[in-house]
Amino acid sequence: EALKQEIAGFTVKDAAGLEAYRMRFISRKSVVGDLFAGLRDVAPEDKKEMGALLNSLKVYAQDRFRELVASLEEGQGQEVAAGLDLTLPPAEDVLGAEHPLSGVKARIVEIFERMGFNLSEGPEIEDDWHNFSALNFPENHPAREMQDTFFIEKNPDIALRTHTSSVQVRVMENEKPPIRTLSPGRVYRNEAISARAHCVFHQVEGLYINKSVSFADLKQTMLHFAQEFFGEGTKIRLRPSYFPFTEPSAELDVSCGICSGKGCNVCKYTGWLEIGGCGMVDPNVLKSSGIDPEEFTGFAFGMGIERMAMLKYQINDLRLFTENDIRFLKQFVSV
Ligand code: PHE
Repeated sequence: EALKQEIAGFTVKDAAGLEAYRMRFISRKSVVGDLFAGLRDVAPEDKKEMGALLNSLKVYAQDRFRELVASLEEGQGQEVAAGLDLTLPPAEDVLGAEHPLSGVKARIVEIFERMGFNLSEGPEIEDDWHNFSALNFPENHPAREMQDTFFIEKNPDIALRTHTSSVQVRVMENEKPPIRTLSPGRVYRNEAISARAHCVFHQVEGLYINKSVSFADLKQTMLHFAQEFFGEGTKIRLRPSYFPFTEPSAELDVSCGICSGKGCNVCKYTGWLEIGGCGMVDPNVLKSSGIDPEEFTGFAFGMGIERMAMLKYQINDLRLFTENDIRFLKQFVSV
């Protein structure tokens, strides 16, 4: 009777509990099993009655076992209903995607590194000298307004850099020619945010200074880059332009690979896409950084990374790069 009560009161929560029950009441080494073994020593006239009693205990224990198994399975059923199916295979790992700006920057850097350019970096908070004066922007000259500047506090000498040309001034001040350097980085301009303009964007600027560097070197370097980045058949076009730090200066266009010159919305039916500015380093700039313009000449170029990414992947809104919409970013998983 005492055993019967113990059996009735036994509850199990999991498979281990069930096994404990089986060991205690059902297996051959269980208490019930022991009682059966003890039957040997029972007097012959009591054996029949005792045997029947034990048999009913055994059947009771087994019935209870079946009940426990059933209730445990039901419990697991509840886990499944709660969205916890432990028999399912694990969820697939989700890999993040490289941001398109990182990918495009890496590609540009790779192309110029193969031509012998090294990488240089500088501060995003710049002084007037490195962002403007050393680059031949005279004080109070309207050319400074080409790049709407964010000044820091009330100090007109400290600003967020408007281009990474400032980094190249630092390189020229610290190194002797030959210089071949590429300066990627974040730049800031005080512009209203729209599909085509942003107050924060990224540039890659390049500088090559050596003995007798010519405009032909600039043109060939730009052509090689354009064909590596946009594809073999790409053509380039240089349009006269103005920058304070280069003379002569040019706007760099590449042939529109989207319509192959037939005319489309992206190239505004001109067949050409503007990708940046370039030119021969102005002698005043070399002088400012302590390089003798009689001995050395050089070329410089600059392009926007966002613009390159927009052209490469036909993205039509600059804001997509900074909004971090997962549906946008996901598209670059395998790029
Ligand atoms: N610094 C220029 C800009 O930000 C780009 C440029 C670089 C143009 C080098 C010519 C030569 O617009």
